[in-house]
Amino acid sequence: MLSDALKQKFDAVIARYPVKRSAIVPLLMFAQDEAGHVTEEAIQEIAQRVGVRPIEVIEDIGYYSMLHRRPIGRYNLQVCTNISCMLRGGGAIFEHCSKKLGIGHKQTTPDGTFSLEEVECLGACCGAPAMQVNYDYYENLTPETIDALIDGLRKKNPASET
Ligand code: FES
Repeated sequence: MLSDALKQKFDAVIARYPVKRSAIVPLLMFAQDEAGHVTEEAIQEIAQRVGVRPIEVIEDIGYYSMLHRRPIGRYNLQVCTNISCMLRGGGAIFEHCSKKLGIGHKQTTPDGTFSLEEVECLGACCGAPAMQVNYDYYENLTPETIDALIDGLRKKNPASET
């Protein structure tokens, strides 16, 4: 069930847009922040509020890699393997993350701490190879910086055993 706070946020966001449907992506982001993923209820609510069919909201979710319809890990590692990152070892960085976490593309560790995705350009090409963990960017990655980052996040979540 969507919280009252989220519904108030929806009202405030929609009021900022002359064309209501332009608010779909920010509404989805707020809904995802609250539940950890975009729920069916959120899709219905957003569609109704901006005056589109639910399938149109679902299409937006499908387009943006940062939006998820299923629960993901507390830390979602999105590793770019697009051209700039690929040329600077992005593929190896993805493989290193995959091996370290024991999961593949669009998978989540059994304890729900980490998810991993291979994604298109994050707009951080100058810092290639780059990745995003939730809303934070990490650039000029090496296996060593990846190890330090993942180990640090594990320490914040001692239940993580991966
Ligand atoms: S190609 Fe990786 S951030 Fe642009």
